[in-house]
Formats: sequence, structure tokens, C-alpha cells
Amino acid sequence: MRMLLLSLLGITTSFGDPLTFNTTPLGEKGGPIILRTFVPDPGLDPAVLTNHGKAFKSPKYNAGSGKDVKGEYKMMKVIPAAIAVNHGPALSYVWDTTECRLLYAWQGGFLDLYPYWGEEGRGGRRSFDYGSRLIGNLFYLAQPEKRAKPRFLGYDLSKSGVPTFCFQLGDQEFTEVILPGDEPLSFKIITDAKEKTIEGKLISKHQGFDRNLKIKSVSATAGEQVFGAYGCIACHSVDGSKGHGPSLKGLAGSTRPIEGGDPVLADSSYLKESLKVPNAKTAKGFPPGYMPPYQLQDKEIDSLVLYIQSLSK
Ligand code: HEC
Repeated sequence: MRMLLLSLLGITTSFGDPLTFNTTPLGEKGGPIILRTFVPDPGLDPAVLTNHGKAFKSPKYNAGSGKDVKGEYKMMKVIPAAIAVNHGPALSYVWDTTECRLLYAWQGGFLDLYPYWGEEGRGGRRSFDYGSRLIGNLFYLAQPEKRAKPRFLGYDLSKSGVPTFCFQLGDQEFTEVILPGDEPLSFKIITDAKEKTIEGKLISKHQGFDRNLKIKSVSATAGEQVFGAYGCIACHSVDGSKGHGPSLKGLAGSTRPIEGGDPVLADSSYLKESLKVPNAKTAKGFPPGYMPPYQLQDKEIDSLVLYIQSLSK
């Protein structure tokens, strides 16, 4: 397996594909992607984040004169010192180095870094609110608990690239490893060699940053843009090669074997349904519930269908 180290961005991945601006590349069960970035707070109880400093008011000033001007700077609603890890479609999670604990877990996708990295080929992050966005189904949120003062000691990647988090609570040292569980919406947490399986339940669905592509007219070319913008390529090839999801080459017009049901013709209504309600039917040989939910606009869906159909010509 190729080891890729983009140290400047703090990214390690043992996955073949490099991270790109607008895709949602996924790690693997045994070889996760690790990213240190601003992550969103998807609804944590504030009592979980008690060791995080409180933001104080910061008056705006004019850089030219150095004088205060009217107003205050807004705060971004992000968690700054977190480590985001992705083990493929089965599990993504955020482990916080300030609280020294798992904060939340989701499945289906990873992070959308578009607000931070900007457009492919052009860069340029958003001037405000440039934290990454979650993609996929959130299924676990940490609950407040009484703990001694945490201190982060670092993480160790020597066990096949899976992070072992090392930390202290009070004067006691701990290690923690988090791995995908055997059931969907579950994970294993191994704290000091004691293993526990946590089964979550769907809390909320996340679809990344709303790019608002403003499609003028429905076309296969617009569909190709949508396909790139939402990172569908992370799971679906367009040349027949294998991925986390079925290749879209030759899909349109073919007869699809369905898990636990009769085969269906991949006509435009099947394709539309696959995009609107990914879990309505599951293509045979693929895991259910892996395709993240996207709230696509009608023009985006119609264009994607034309694009997928163009891959069968
Ligand atoms: C995290 C991986 C992942 C991402 C990202 C993803 N998909 Fe999927 N998709 C899957 C999997 C797995 C299946 C097969 C299981 C199923 O049918 O639900 C699937 C099924 C499909 C199907 C039906 C395929 C068939 O063979 O019947 C279509 C069409 C599709 N996806 C289109 C898209 C488009 C368009 C996007 C981007 C907007 C996208 N997918 C993003 C994983 C993904």
C-alpha cells in the first residue's frame, strides 16, 4: 500500500488516491485517512467541550489606521484542535485533542473541504466560515461525563496506520483506538485494551457544502460538473473500474441485480431514485447505506441522469 504524506496539510493517507479539492476520498478499513482540520460541531452538548476556551469579543479595527471601527468580529462555529479519521464508508470520526475523547462518529462519507481549499485549479478559501462540512450520516455524539483534567500526549501510527491516541486524565495515562464495527452504524472503542462496541442510531444527515451550482439548463455537461463538485468519483468510476460503489459506465439501460429483490432496468426513473433515495434499492454486491444522502436540486438530478446515460453510449 502506498503511503502518502502531505505534511504541510497534516494529512496522512495510505489510500492510493491523493486528496483533492472537491472530492470526498475515503480511507480503508485497515488504512484510514487522518486529517487535522477545523471540524463542525454537529450539535454536541456544550458540557462535552468544557476544556475548550471561551471566545471573547474582539472589536473590529481598520488595518490602515490601526483604530477600532464599529462592530465585532464573528466567531466561526468550528472545533479547532480535532483529528478527523476516515476508515472508508463504514466509519468516520472526530477525536478531540483538547477534551482527549471521541466527539462524534458518522458513516457514508468524510469531510467536504471545499470551503477551506476553494475551487480546484483556482484555490481561494471562503473568507469566513471556512470550516469543513460533514458528508454522510451522523450516528454518535459524545455525552457529558465527569472526567479528570485531560492532557494530550500524541498519537501513534505504528499499528498499520490506525491511530492510537495517547492521553492523560489527571495523572493516569490512557491509550484509545477506534475501529469500524461489524454492524452498520457501529464502532469499536478500545480504551487501554478494553474493547467496547458502541451501536449508534441515525441522528442527522449531512451533505457537505451547498455549492449552489446554478445550472442554467439541464445537460450531460452540467451533470459532469455536478458529479465532480459533489465528489461522486470517490466511490463511482466512469471507466468500469471497481470502487466503493458500482462503476457508472454502462449502467444506464442495463439490468441491475438488486439485493433481496428482482432485477430492475436502469432507466431514468431508476437512476433518479438512486440519486434521491440512495437506499431505496441496493445494487447487488454492495453494502446498503454507504451512499451518502445528497439534497440535490431537480436540475442537478436531471443533469446527472443525462451524464450517467452518456456513459452508456
Ligand atoms: C461513499 C461512497 C459513495 C458516494 C460518495 C456516492 N455513492 Fe452512489 N453508490 C454508492 C454505493 C455503495 C452504491 C451501491 C449500493 C446502493 O445501491 O445503494 C451506490 C449506488 C449508486 C447508483 C445506483 C448504481 C447501480 O449500479 O444501480 C447511482 C446512479 C449512484 N450511486 C450515483 C451517485 C452519484 C451521482 C453520486 C454523487 C452525487 C454518488 N453516487 C455518490 C456509494 C457512493
